[in-house]
Amino acid sequence: MQPDLTNRVALVTGASRGIGRAIALALAAAGARVVINYRDRSDAAEQVATEIREAGGRADVVQADVADRESVDALIKQIVALGGGLDILVNNAGITRDGLVMRMKDDDFDAVIDTNLRGAFLCTRAALRPLLKSAHGRIINISSVVGLAGNAGQANYAAAKAGLLGFTRSMAREVASRQVTVNAVAPGFIDTDMTASLNEAARSAALESIPLRRCGSAAEVAAVVCFLASDAAAYITGQTIAVDGGMVMS
Ligand SMILES: NC(=O)c1ccc[n+]([C@@H]2O[C@H](COP(=O)([O-])OP(=O)(O)OC[C@H]3O[C@@H](n4cnc5c(N)ncnc54)[C@H](OP(=O)(O)O)[C@@H]3O)[C@@H](O)[C@H]2O)c1
Repeated sequence: MQPDLTNRVALVTGASRGIGRAIALALAAAGARVVINYRDRSDAAEQVATEIREAGGRADVVQADVADRESVDALIKQIVALGGGLDILVNNAGITRDGLVMRMKDDDFDAVIDTNLRGAFLCTRAALRPLLKSAHGRIINISSVVGLAGNAGQANYAAAKAGLLGFTRSMAREVASRQVTVNAVAPGFIDTDMTASLNEAARSAALESIPLRRCGSAAEVAAVVCFLASDAAAYITGQTIAVDGGMVMS
């Protein structure tokens, strides 16, 4: 059943491509007005907005670097200025800078923490006032199975994504009295630009570790985000839902 998000306003960070793009399309298809955030690729972000508008939905595009406080504050100000408040925040923007710790540069560690973890903190803090005013406030953080299980060569990314899970649970407790829910989605191996650069050996090793024996699609992650954003998920908070073909079972 398609969730009904009519009259809700949603911000999806990093929505120009991949999973964020699919989340923006799915939320818009459910009736939400979607703010598509991107960092560098304005053409791709505008294309997502055009696709939504052509399907009869509402979308705005706002550039911001989630790792930069001023940029994030300006992003939320622009959304509030649109006049519809903010009901749903999806902290999706993320990057990888893989390497073994022995050879990892400070910059590669810091950049991943800054975007994937600090970015979610900055966006959440800036968005809290309008979210608390909403009768349907939702924060959904896109973590990763790597944050649950770890992965050699991704210590920076795993630390950021595991940190995001602790952040999710703490935030869930901070805002629960206002009926705002905070949950995390932990995708496994999803076909996007982020995984396209993997060589054949790494790809088949990843596939071997997936009980369902296939990559997931961005749309399969988006469907779970849409559910968590909906009224049907109003009693779910502080949880992590893995969308990973069974890679991590608890
Ligand atoms: N793909 C997977 O298998 C997988 C698995 C688990 C978790 N995830 C997580 O899912 C999320 C999306 O991944 P993806 O595979 O869709 O990645 P992707 O295809 O590489 O897209 C990343 C998106 O994030 C945006 N972005 C990057 N840094 C940003 C910043 N500082 N400020 C604002 N936007 C920024 C990019 O914007 P520009 O296009 O403008 O650069 C782009 O829209 C990430 O958090 C990732 O860690 C992915």
